[in-house]
Order: sequence, then structure tokens, then C-alpha cells
Amino acid sequence: MRKRILSGMRPTGRLHLGHLVGALDNWMKLQEEYECFFMVADWHALMSEYEDPASIAEYAIDNVIDWLSAGIDPEKSTIFMQSEVPQHLDLNMIFSCFVPLGWLERCPTYKEQLREIKTRNLHTYAFLGYPVLQAADILLYKADKVPVGEDQLPHLELTRQISRRFNGLYKCGIFPEPEAILTKTPRLLGLDGRKMSKSYNNTVDLSDSAETLKNKISGMFTDPQRIKLSDPGHPDVCNVHAYYAVFAPEMKQEVDDWCRNARKGCTECKKILAEKLVLKLAPFHKKRTQFLKDKPKIKKILKAGSEKAGVAAARTVDAVKSAMKIRI
Ligand code: TRP
Repeated sequence: MRKRILSGMRPTGRLHLGHLVGALDNWMKLQEEYECFFMVADWHALMSEYEDPASIAEYAIDNVIDWLSAGIDPEKSTIFMQSEVPQHLDLNMIFSCFVPLGWLERCPTYKEQLREIKTRNLHTYAFLGYPVLQAADILLYKADKVPVGEDQLPHLELTRQISRRFNGLYKCGIFPEPEAILTKTPRLLGLDGRKMSKSYNNTVDLSDSAETLKNKISGMFTDPQRIKLSDPGHPDVCNVHAYYAVFAPEMKQEVDDWCRNARKGCTECKKILAEKLVLKLAPFHKKRTQFLKDKPKIKKILKAGSEKAGVAAARTVDAVKSAMKIRI
């Protein structure tokens, strides 16, 4: 039996290069080795987007188009919508009964989001329970591994705590203690050198045209100490160089030399990077254009995936109810 993986993304916006190198490239490799479940976490999206819920369905389709274009294969992996599998909410309810408030109030991601996000009111009942639903997502499929970013580690720790608490309370061994898989690729920063994020307006989106991409790259921040073309630069502090390392590693030495020895200026260096990126993303864009023309197909994939996920989910909830002796 292959080990199982579950991961998910909230459909709250278009995906960008950070998602590609931080998650999708990884998912694509994992599907060769593991039984993978990749979930559109639309209930989690609703927790923050409840004032404009219509955008969630749109982004769900758009994000799945990006997943498929990046090589996530519905023949190999189960691609599904969280809200189409009602057992996520069953398990969320059950876990909610025994998860102490303190575990949730102490969660560092919760405290940080409340502090940082001022554009919406997150002092809600559902948002406090965000990690409980996430634990339900993961444990419903008895996932062994969960590929996530570092920011999600507290949620994984809570998932293991919930798993142990359940197994202990109901004297069973239904749930595993899932572990994180962290990506090895260095994190790709945004165009301005901060974390790549929609809210910083510093992303290169996977849906950006070649034209937009070139424009965005030409505006990238470079080594702040290199002012004139004749100034030697410092590739190790330059974000453009970091992009080369990810998207054109074979050019790393050469680019290093252009910069350190002032052989090429930053403008030219960025122009060459943009061309490289456009070439590199061409197969992705070609597939994306194809999928965009066939949204019914995307819906079909999600429907079939949700049915498949539902079978595994129903089995777990059955076992859970039996262990708890709450079935008539
Ligand atoms: N919280 C995750 C994020 O923001 C999304 C998510 C929801 C998830 N459920 C999950 C990730 C289950 C992994 C497993 O990135």
C-alpha cells in the first residue's frame, strides 16, 4: 500500500510563481510515489472571504486549472472540493466537541492573523476553529504526510494533538499522526524582495501574459548598492540572482560573473531573466490556455475527484462513529 498524502490550498486569489515552486512542483513529484489527495479548501476560504463568497468558486476553477497545467494529473491524484465532501464537516463537528479553546487561542497563526489582517473581521466562531477543520481534512483521509509551507507547522502539530486525543478518548487507533513535508526549494521572494503575496502586490501570477511578466521583471528590485553600471554587484543579496537560481540554475555562474565584475547592468540582466522565464513557462501557459477553453472539463474532474474522496471519507466517518458508539 502506498502512503497517503493530503494537501490543500484556499481559493482566495490567482496562483503565482511562489505557489509553483513552493507547492505545485512538489505535488507533481509526490504524485508519482504516494496516493495523493489535493483539495480546494473552499470552506477555509469562506472563513475570510465571507463578504464576497462568489469569488471563491471562480478562483477554485482558476486554481485547479493552474494545478493541472503544472502537471497535477487527475489520473494519478484525487483532485477535489472540500465542500463537496460533507464528511469534512462531520469530523469537524466531532473534533470541536473535545478540542479545548486554549489550544486554538494559543495557536500562533491565529494570533498573528488577528493582529495583521485589518481588512476583514476575523473575530468569528469559524475562524477560531480554522485548525480544527484542517485537522479534519487531514485525518479524514488518514494522511501519513502533508506537504505544507513552514507557516502551517502549528496546524500540523494541532492535527497530531487532535489525533492523539481522539484515539485516547475512544480507545482506538483510527487516526495516524501525520507529518509535514517541507519543500526544499528556497523560498521565492516577491518582486520587491518581501514575501511574495497578493496583499503586497508583488507577485508574478501564473496567469500573467509574457508581456506582463516582462514588465513586472523589469521593475524588480536589485542589489541596492549597485547604482552605476560600472559598480560591481553582489549576487548573493540580489533577488534577481535568486530567481536565476530557481529558473535557470545552469546560468548561475555566468550571471554571477556579469554582476560581480560589472559586465552587464541590472536592466539587461533582468531582461534576460524575463526571456528565460517566458520560455520556461511556455508549456505551462499553453496548457493553461487549453484548459481555460474547457471549464466543464475542470468541473467534471472536480466532481469525479470529490466522489472518490467521498468514498474514503465515508469509510473513516463510519469507523469514527463506531469507535464512539454514537450509531443507532
Ligand atoms: N491552511 C492551508 C493554507 O492556508 C490550507 C489547507 C486547508 C490545508 N486544509 C488543509 C493544507 C489540509 C494542508 C492540509 O495553506
